Amino acid sequence: MNLTGRVALVTGGGRGIGRAVALRLAQDGAALAVSDVDEATGESVAAELRGLGHQASFYRVNVGAADEVTQLVERVLKEQGGLHILVNNAGITRDALLLRMTEEDWDRVLTINLKGAFLCTRAALRPMLRQRWGRIINIASVVGLVGNAGQANYAASKAGIIGLTKATAKEVASRAVTANAIAPGFIDTTMTRALKEETKQEVLKQIPLGSFGQPEDVASAVAFLASEEAGYITGHVLCVDGGLTMV
Ligand code: NAI
Repeated sequence: MNLTGRVALVTGGGRGIGRAVALRLAQDGAALAVSDVDEATGESVAAELRGLGHQASFYRVNVGAADEVTQLVERVLKEQGGLHILVNNAGITRDALLLRMTEEDWDRVLTINLKGAFLCTRAALRPMLRQRWGRIINIASVVGLVGNAGQANYAASKAGIIGLTKATAKEVASRAVTANAIAPGFIDTTMTRALKEETKQEVLKQIPLGSFGQPEDVASAVAFLASEEAGYITGHVLCVDGGLTMV
């Protein structure tokens, strides 16, 4: 994909899928604003990108905090000279069966995963609408489509992201700004490494392509949706799941 001249902001870019997305978009020519709540990992990804000859800066931000997000977008616009691609990737899990799920677990997951995507989208839309070009790519999950026992908060946040994506797509389509969601299945990252071995083996049996995905598999889909070539695709949910759901 040719993303030369574009500025991309990736939340949760310090590791896992976010890091792979940042690397891929930079390889394709975009200038990168790598954002994460974790300063050490986020800064190391930005340094890695600069070491490869790409333009990249790190911004420490908690996506659930409205004032931090507003400042983030203002700084990116000033320091990078624009904002064309937003990848809402930051996300967490706090798993528990419903009867044992605390209000705090619910609020924390919804605040970071769903409200964070809303706050970043709202802040990024103004420059995108003004320049009449933009790409919003939300990292949802297959769990937002099919549910998962023990993840009511996470599934609700990811289903919410899909609704947010479609509403955004309809609101901003007339200005050539697209909004799409990617629903990864089981991707090999810190988030999934914590799962029990037997759970992993159970999931593996249900994946037609026979393996877990890699962060780069998600990054390829992001690069496509961010490109000029995907300009006629909006409000779509693209599953990157090895065939796990086939919804
Ligand atoms: P990860 O846990 O490896 O990385 C998440 C990143 O988000 C970390 O760098 C973390 O510091 C950052 N982050 C956490 N809270 C934040 C906050 N409040 N503000 C800013 N950054 C914050 O997770 P992974 O696996 O790379 O997941 C990335 C996205 O993909 C998440 O939205 C996740 O829900 C989604 N996803 C992951 C799947 C998987 O199998 N790994 C499957 C489906 C969706």
